[in-house]
Amino acid sequence: MEKYVLITGSSSGLGKATAQKLAREGFKVFAGVRKQQDKETLEQLHENIIPVFIDVTNDESVNCAFEKIKETTPELFAIVNNAGVALAGPVEYIPAEILKKQFDINVFGAIRTAQKALPMMSMSKDCRIVNISSMSSYGIFPFLSPYCVSKRALDMFFNSLILECKMPNLKVISIKPGVVSTPIWNKSVDESMRNLELLCEEGKQKYAKEFDFLLKNAAKNTDKGLKPEDIAGLVYKVLTLKNPKLSYNIGMDSFFARFMSYLPQGMCNFIVKTGLEKRVFSHNQQNTTK
Ligand SMILES: NC(=O)c1ccc[n+]([C@@H]2O[C@H](COP(=O)([O-])OP(=O)(O)OC[C@H]3O[C@@H](n4cnc5c(N)ncnc54)[C@H](OP(=O)(O)O)[C@@H]3O)[C@@H](O)[C@H]2O)c1
Repeated sequence: MEKYVLITGSSSGLGKATAQKLAREGFKVFAGVRKQQDKETLEQLHENIIPVFIDVTNDESVNCAFEKIKETTPELFAIVNNAGVALAGPVEYIPAEILKKQFDINVFGAIRTAQKALPMMSMSKDCRIVNISSMSSYGIFPFLSPYCVSKRALDMFFNSLILECKMPNLKVISIKPGVVSTPIWNKSVDESMRNLELLCEEGKQKYAKEFDFLLKNAAKNTDKGLKPEDIAGLVYKVLTLKNPKLSYNIGMDSFFARFMSYLPQGMCNFIVKTGLEKRVFSHNQQNTTK
């Protein structure tokens, strides 16, 4: 019997790689996109990929996407809440607009999608929600707090769903990757540069050194870390295992972040703060000697 999966944010990175992997393995994949060009590209990738327009921040768009899906099938086996952005800024000055945007996509978008999907999933004997969370859910990345708290909130909301939901056929799985080489990092740098302009002069000056270091560091992430295919393989695994775990780490940095979260908060903060100070200092030294 055919199994249908919806993946949000399939235009690039993890979502695209996961759509390809699942399609090759025989799943029918509704691949969420926002642009016509991405729809056309995905259509060419595999006959099992059915692109659907879905902007997870928009009720009407999500409703339309589910109407489209229902034209093909009454039943969904799984959704992969993958659509996401990474926004940054110092807590002391970050405008509320940025926090709202971060939550709108990474948290409310996933909940909005799940709420529409659950009735279609309740018909299935076995159904799954896979959330692409992040090692940032452990909250140890200064200046990336909007992203960190969005991923923590995503994990918390869906853990509440597990506790509350009267669907014994439902499994909810959180995947927490470390750094993966995808466009998210360059997009994040571009958006953070624009957001930096929204900060007051005092804020810009106070955190200029830290931001310079962090943005250059983030740009490097585009070419390092895991491959999107590694995460796609793990999504396939959790969709096919009889009894998947609730949470998976992938990447050494993700295991390290989890380890740090076991430490007493004071000790964890000391390690993170002194580590950042040293790295910002040596980054600035290198810049001044150039
Ligand atoms: N890369 C990493 O190091 C890493 C690590 C841990 C977790 N993750 C998570 O993995 C997920 C995928 O990220 P990625 O690294 O693959 O980055 P990516 O290539 O930038 O993919 C992000 C996807 O989300 C989509 N998206 C953004 N806003 C949306 C909205 N309002 N509605 C629907 N879709 C939207 C984008 O679509 P458009 O192209 O239309 O903008 C794109 O398809 C994210 O949740 C991210 O937090 C990434």
